[in-house]
Parts: sequence; structure tokens; C-alpha cells
Amino acid sequence: GGQELGERLGLGQGPGEGRSWGCAWIWGQGPGEGLEALEAGRGRGRPWRWAGAGGRGSACGPQDDPRGGHSLLLSPQVLCDFPHTAAAIPPDYLLDLVPLIRPRAFSIASSLRAHPSRLQILVAVVQYQTRLREPRRGLCSSWLASLDPAQGPVRVPLWVRSGGLTFPKTPDVPVIMVGPGTGVAPFRAAIQERVAQGETGNVLFFGCRRQDQDFYWEAEWKQLQARGCLTLVTAFSRDQEQKVYVQHRLRAFGPLVWELLEGRGAHFYLAGNAKYMPADVSNTLLSIFREEGGLSSPDAAAYLAQLQRTLRFQTETWA
Ligand SMILES: Cc1cc2nc3c(=O)[nH]c(=O)nc-3n(C[C@H](O)[C@H](O)[C@H](O)COP(=O)(O)OP(=O)(O)OC[C@H]3O[C@@H](n4cnc5c(N)ncnc54)[C@H](O)[C@@H]3O)c2cc1C
Ligand SMILES: NC(=O)c1ccc[n+]([C@@H]2O[C@H](COP(=O)([O-])OP(=O)(O)OC[C@H]3O[C@@H](n4cnc5c(N)ncnc54)[C@H](OP(=O)(O)O)[C@@H]3O)[C@@H](O)[C@H]2O)c1
Repeated sequence: GGQELGERLGLGQGPGEGRSWGCAWIWGQGPGEGLEALEAGRGRGRPWRWAGAGGRGSACGPQDDPRGGHSLLLSPQVLCDFPHTAAAIPPDYLLDLVPLIRPRAFSIASSLRAHPSRLQILVAVVQYQTRLREPRRGLCSSWLASLDPAQGPVRVPLWVRSGGLTFPKTPDVPVIMVGPGTGVAPFRAAIQERVAQGETGNVLFFGCRRQDQDFYWEAEWKQLQARGCLTLVTAFSRDQEQKVYVQHRLRAFGPLVWELLEGRGAHFYLAGNAKYMPADVSNTLLSIFREEGGLSSPDAAAYLAQLQRTLRFQTETWA
């Protein structure tokens, strides 16, 4: 499999897993090392193999490979970082190495009751630096941000499917929502929907970097608070030396959280993209059950499990 590619790049014999969609792995010491060696002409004889199935896109990374190999090519951006290697690749392999573009999901952030015939989303433009030359930009979020309807009609291919979070149908059941960053998107839709139906028991924990940066829909929240339809608790992580996250604010509001869950049968929701946030928030809930509810550790864990089973604790998180 892929022998022609291996020969053209001066690689050693691959284990021959068969040519398939995806990318090739080259064993290296650290991220990009295999690629850099190839680019510098030091790659001769390196073991390698084809890996990955069916356009896994950016999910294709070193973490997928227990032996620590590194993907040969992920995207046209990488091709530009390694022009010599890229030039050696036979054209009919190029399409195999560039993954299929996969669809991206965005939470619907508006309710048709508040915005008839409109569908609003909240998109954070993903940008990060690796040790490769060019700064990386998220494909779909950057593309969406680049669209300018003022310059002419834009076409966004999309489809809509039901969301994963379900909210209580019974009136007067309060909801507690924890949504830092773009995690607040599904809760804006839910709050609009609930307020339109006269449900005022809405508690939202929102976190972002600074009060004057990324405080999405600040004016709308303040208006809802003034109308008595929302309790908003904020965590601005970078406005002081010590990080303040949603779970720290949740802990400070422990007595209210326990009273709403135990006394009023509240539902609890969690959404967002922070890597450690979901586990951190769950642990904070456990500590509230212990300290405010007086439960033992096993009973607190059982309480959380029961909330999950009865759909009174639901999450929608992404990497
Ligand atoms: C159910 C669901 C709901 C979602 N809702 C929303 C939403 O409401 N709003 C929203 O903005 N997004 C949401 N997302 C995430 C969204 O689908 C995309 O994943 C996100 O916009 C990035 O896509 P992209 O094409 O811009 O980036 P891509 O080109 O796919 O790049 C993202 C990838 O880059 C890599 N990466 C990112 N940052 C770093 C870093 N610092 N260091 C190294 N590698 C990194 C990771 O591999 C990451 O998977 C949701 C996802 C799901 C599954
Ligand atoms: N101005 C910018 O360049 C900018 C702004 C927003 C988002 N983005 C990018 O957009 C993407 C998604 O952004 P987002 O708005 O959804 O999220 P985000 O801005 O990355 O995070 C939202 C909030 O969650 C905090 N957080 C981090 N770890 C946490 C944890 N373990 N528990 C609880 N909270 C935690 C963040 O704090 P800390 O980050 O302070 O730790 C921040 O205050 C990211 O790739 C981000 O880099 C860029």
C-alpha cells in the first residue's frame, strides 16, 4: 500500500496496511519531527504507514497513534509549510492525503418565538499556533467570519437537526444553565423560548475572558434580569490575577443550587468547549451535594447519577 508514495519520498518499507483514505504516519521524535526530517532530506529509510479511514480531517493527529507517529499531511496549510515534501508527492496521492471537509455543528442560539424566520448562531473564530510556520485558523469558523452579505449574496450549505438538550415541559420547573464561552449559545435559545412561555426560573452561569471582551448578549441578559426573568452569574477569568471560572461561581451559589435542585426539582445543564470544564463543573456539583446537602461522597455520586438518569442533568460539550 502506498509504495509509490513511499519511494518518491525516500521512505523505508511501510508495513503495508493498504492504501486508504486518510493520511500517512511517519515515526518521529516529536510533533512534526518526521515531516521536518523529510523536508530537510533526512527522512530516508524512515518507517511509515498509511493510516486513518474516510476523511477524519483534523481529528487525524498524533494522539491517534499509540506509537507516537505523526501525520504526513493534514491540510493544504501543511503542504505550504513543507514545499519540498509536497512537491515530491505524486498528484494522484495528493487527494488521498488532503482529508475530506467534514461538516461542523453549531448550536442554534435563538428561538423562533423571539426571532421568527431567523436562525442565529454564535461562532468563535478558532486560531492557534503550532510549531509549524503558519498560524492555524479553524476552517469553518474562519470561513463563516469571512462572509460578508453586504458584498453580495452568500450561500451557506446547512441542515438542521434536533438538539441534544431537552428542557422541562412542566411549568414552573427552574433550570440552571452553565455555559462558558460559546457554550452559552444553546442557553440563549432556551431562555428566549422559556421567557416567551412565561417561565421565569432561569439561572445562567456564564464565563468569558473579560467583562469587556466576549461578554456575548450582555445587553439582552441585563434586560431579562431587569424584567425578573433571569438570574445571571458571571465569571470573568482574566479580569484579575487568579482565574475565576463558572465552577467557582457555582460553588459560591451552592446554597441556591442545592435548594433549586432538591427543593424545586430544577434541571441542570452544561455546555461549552473548554477541555476540563465539564469535569470541573461536575466535581463542583458533587462538592455542593456533600457540603450543602450533607450527603456522603457515595451518596453525592449517586445523586448526580440519578439526575443524569432522569435527564435532570444534561450536557452538550465539544472539543
Ligand atoms: C454539538 C456541537 C455544538 C457546537 N456548537 C458550537 C457553537 O455554538 N459555537 C461554536 O463556535 N462552536 C460550536 N461547536 C464547535 C464547532 O463545531 C467547530 O468544531 C468549531 O467551530 C471549529 O471548527 P473549525 O472548522 O473552525 O476548526 P477546525 O479547522 O476543525 O479546527 C479545529 C481543530 O483544531 C485543533 N485545535 C484547535 N485549537 C487548538 C490549539 N489551541 N492547539 C492545537 N490544536 C488546536 C483541534 O484539533 C480542533 O479540533 C459545536 C460542536 C458540537 C459538536
Ligand atoms: N479574543 C480571542 O482571540 C478569542 C476570544 C474568544 C474565543 N477565542 C477562541 O475561540 C475558541 C472557543 O472559544 P469560547 O468562547 O467557546 O471559549 P473560551 O474563550 O476558550 O473559554 C470561555 C471561558 O471559559 C474559561 N475556561 C477555560 N478553562 C476552563 C475550565 N476548566 N473550567 C471553566 N472555565 C474554563 C476561559 O478562561 P481562560 O481562557 O481565561 O482560561 C474563558 O473565560 C477557542 O479556540 C478560543 O481560543 C478566541
